[in-house]
Amino acid sequence: MSRIPEDFIQQLLDRTDIVAVVERYVPLKKAGANYQARCPFHNEKSPSFSVSPTKQFYHCFGCGAHGTAISFLMEHAGYSFIDAVKELAGQAGLTVPDDGQHRASEEDSQRDKLFERMEVAASHFRQALKGAAKAIDYLKGRGVNGETAVRFGLGYAADGWQPLAEAFADYQDPLLAEAGLVVVNEGKRYDRFRDRVMFPIRNERGKVIAFGGRVMGAGEPKYLNSPETPLFHKGRELYGLHEHRRAIQGENRVVVVEGYMDVVMLDQHGVQNAVATLGTAITADQASRLLRLADTVIFAFDGDNAGRKAAWRALENSLPQARDGKLLGFLFLPEGEDPDSFVRAQGADAFRKLCDRAMPLSDFLFGELSNQTDLSSQEGKVRLATLAKPYLAKLQEAPLLSRALHKRLAELTGLDGPRDRPTSHPANPRRGPGDDRSASRPVRGRNAVQPTAWKTLLQGILDDPVRAGQLSDLPELPNPEVQLLQGLVSLIREHPEMQGRDIVEHYQGRPEKPVLAEALALADQNRGSGFDVEADFQGALERIRAQAGRAQVKTLSSRRPSEMTPEEKARLLDSLKGRKPS
Ligand code: UTP
Ligand code: MN
Repeated sequence: MSRIPEDFIQQLLDRTDIVAVVERYVPLKKAGANYQARCPFHNEKSPSFSVSPTKQFYHCFGCGAHGTAISFLMEHAGYSFIDAVKELAGQAGLTVPDDGQHRASEEDSQRDKLFERMEVAASHFRQALKGAAKAIDYLKGRGVNGETAVRFGLGYAADGWQPLAEAFADYQDPLLAEAGLVVVNEGKRYDRFRDRVMFPIRNERGKVIAFGGRVMGAGEPKYLNSPETPLFHKGRELYGLHEHRRAIQGENRVVVVEGYMDVVMLDQHGVQNAVATLGTAITADQASRLLRLADTVIFAFDGDNAGRKAAWRALENSLPQARDGKLLGFLFLPEGEDPDSFVRAQGADAFRKLCDRAMPLSDFLFGELSNQTDLSSQEGKVRLATLAKPYLAKLQEAPLLSRALHKRLAELTGLDGPRDRPTSHPANPRRGPGDDRSASRPVRGRNAVQPTAWKTLLQGILDDPVRAGQLSDLPELPNPEVQLLQGLVSLIREHPEMQGRDIVEHYQGRPEKPVLAEALALADQNRGSGFDVEADFQGALERIRAQAGRAQVKTLSSRRPSEMTPEEKARLLDSLKGRKPS
């Protein structure tokens, strides 16, 4: 999107101290050459997040978050790309080049202007609420107190055609229409929101990007929302995320509700970890954002038919985002209740108890599908298997959960699960159960190693350190996961007597420790459980090799021949010929 020249970005990153940037948000501790912390992108007890001042990147061995100072500001602090670049440029005393990227800054200042219009409107609505007895009565009638109204910036849009003309000197300003504040119809302009209680929708950084306006009493629609604008994409934003982000990370659990009022009233009663989607089913994008903030995501729905339908759509959209070790739960409120009415009647603790008892994704999935089939007949069992298949196939990023669900399906149907599934894959005939989906998954981003593959290798090595020998010819890559594996290889070469537990101990105090400890625990667990650890290890090894090979060819091919050592040239030539490097 940006038209900022690549070499400027490089120059900017060279002049930026990533440690200083990250430190403003996350307390860092020096550990050897690097700094470490508990990862700000996922919830964890021991620090697996590390920042390298020499390489100028951050990396988390727990969740794989990785990037530069720019991506840190974007991912953690909610900056846009342009804003992050500007911020860092300002600190580094550099001027973002104007040359050839006029459009980018124009677009950017256009966004700034839209933000400004939204803020003016929000402040106007807040002011207006103070003098609007009717709206105050309405909110009071719903139990909203003054403090809550202030915290969520609630307001009032007055009745009439152009009340916003009071707030803006130029009512004809085209940006008012673009911001969705004004509607233009057959040449006439009027306010979109009239005589409604206003809920500002803020982005993660707290800037107002849209509004939801509720009628008081009867009227259609009940909630009128801003249209999609350059600032506002419904499928991406979550109401309450700005206000509740810290609480969500602190509790390591988030509750997704359906309505603005649910978030507001839960908050007032002390439940501060709720967010709402904006009148649509949760999208994959929203689900993945939430799963990065907390290990448990609970979707709360009304107990009626519409609620069950909405829950099913949430399930479909979030399956591809499921990760091992994360929990997706479904909570159904008693018939006729929503979180707002429930928390007002029963209080915060009762609501938290409901959350504790939320139905795990797997129960909801099999429960709903079983309802559609008659499990007393063979045909019904086959039908369940057929129905379940496309859903289980979406669990691409959660190999262990996927295994568990296949196993459960096998139990329910009496049809053999894992061993019956097609396992033929020319490159990898020895793959273990559960690996087929991750193997066919495209490689993402930078040199990212598929998380399942490198973790499987860790498990295999900690299960039996002798296996490390098989990794000795892995190509050198600037990839922290590969480097960790290579570090293990040399450690074990020097200390062949070390067992899994000694190896984990050796990493005491380093960011790699938690991921190693987790791998050891899984290895211990897998040992007695009938999984074919060796087959898993071999499959993962082949995948990593293939991928490391591709990444290396890519890195080498981007260099000029004069920049390569003779060995590198030879290796590149070899791999281009499809031969194994010597
Ligand atoms: P609900 O109809 O469940 O209403 O809409 P609610 O949240 O319980 O609202 P109150 O308590 O009657 O005030 C849930 C969400 O769906 C979207 C809104 O985001 C709302 O919060 N919605 C609903 C609309 O966008 N437009 C509508 O007309 C209705
Ligand atoms: Mn309601």
